Amino acid sequence: MVTGGTGLVGSALKKLAQADGAANPADERWVFLSSKDGDLRDPVAVRTLFERHRPTHIIHLAAMVGGLFKNMKYKVEFWRDNVAMNDNVLTLAKEYKVRKVVSCLSTCIFPDKTSYPIDETMIHNGPPHPSNEGYAYAKRMVDVQNRAYAEEYGCAFTSVIPTNVFGPHDNYSIEDGHVLPGLMHKVHLAQQRSEPLTVWGTGRPLRQFIFSEDLARLFVWVLREYHSVEPIILSVGEDDEVDIKTAALTVASAMGFTGGVVFDATKSDGQYKKTASNAKLRALNPSFRFTPFADAVAITTKWFVDNYATARK
Ligand SMILES: NC(=O)c1ccc[n+]([C@@H]2O[C@H](COP(=O)([O-])OP(=O)(O)OC[C@H]3O[C@@H](n4cnc5c(N)ncnc54)[C@H](OP(=O)(O)O)[C@@H]3O)[C@@H](O)[C@H]2O)c1
Repeated sequence: MVTGGTGLVGSALKKLAQADGAANPADERWVFLSSKDGDLRDPVAVRTLFERHRPTHIIHLAAMVGGLFKNMKYKVEFWRDNVAMNDNVLTLAKEYKVRKVVSCLSTCIFPDKTSYPIDETMIHNGPPHPSNEGYAYAKRMVDVQNRAYAEEYGCAFTSVIPTNVFGPHDNYSIEDGHVLPGLMHKVHLAQQRSEPLTVWGTGRPLRQFIFSEDLARLFVWVLREYHSVEPIILSVGEDDEVDIKTAALTVASAMGFTGGVVFDATKSDGQYKKTASNAKLRALNPSFRFTPFADAVAITTKWFVDNYATARK
C-alpha cells in the first residue's frame, strides 16, 4: 500500500510498479492511495483503509509538502497534518502487523548549523532551519517512532531521506512549489510573454536533485533489500550538487528559452546548502546508476509542457 500514491514520488512508483517485470512480480498487488481514498489525518479513515486493503507492506509517502515560501507561511499546518498522518499510519501498521513500513523523511529536516556532508547519524543534532521547523520536527519524529516501535514491538519500520525530488506530476506552483518545478513554470510563462526569466534569490545556494523515477527504483530496493530501522539517505553524490543558477540555466536550455535571466536577490535564498553524503547508499547498492541531471530535466520539462493544462500549478 503506497500512501501519497498520486503525488510526485507516488506517480513515479506507480509507473515503475506497472512496468513489466520491474517491480510487480505475480504474487504482489500494489495499491496506490490518494487523499480522496481517505484523509490520513483522520484515524477513522485510516482504519477503514487498513480494513479494506490489509496491507503487508507500506510505502508511506503522503505528507503536506511544499517549498520554502509555503513552509514559512503554514508552520502550524505542516506540523499538525504531518504528525497526524504519520502517527495514524504507524499506529495501525503496528496493530495490523504490517511486515514493513518505509516512510519518507527529507534532507531539509537536518540541523541548520552542521558540518558537511550531512549523514544519517546527524538528524537530531540541532534545530532545523527556522523556515521549515513545522515540517522538519514532524518528519524527525518518524525516526523516533520507528526506533521505538522496533524496540518495544519488534516492528520493521524504517525511513529514507531523499534530497530535492523532481519529475513528472510535481507541483509546478510558483508560490508553493519546490525550486525546479517553479522554475519550469516560470520559464514557460516567460517564453509565452516574451519576458526575461526572474529567478528568486541570488542563484548561489547549492542543492542535490534526485529524479523521481530514480527515487522510485531506490524505494523498491529499500523495501526489498534494506533491513535496518536506521534511515538511509537517497541522493546523488556530493559531486553532483548544482547551484540554483545552473539549475535555472539547465531548465531554460531544456525548454529552448533564449530570453534573459535575472536574479531577484530581495527574495530569500533559504538554506545555503544541505550537502548530503550518499556513502551508505553507495556501499549497500554500488551498482545503482542515476539518470544524468540534464536528461531528467529534459524528460520533466517535456512532461510539464505536454500536460500544462492539467498539471498542478
Ligand atoms: N518533493 C520533494 O522534493 C521531496 C523531498 C524530500 C522528501 N519528500 C517526501 O516525499 C514524500 C512524497 O512527496 P511528493 O513530493 O510526492 O508530494 P506530493 O506530490 O505533494 O504528493 C503528496 C501526496 O500525499 C497525499 N496527501 C496529502 N495530504 C494527504 C492527506 N491528508 N491524506 C491522504 N493523503 C494525503 C496527496 O494526495 P492527493 O493527490 O489526493 O492530494 C499526494 O498523493 C513526502 O513524504 C515528502 O515529505 C519530498
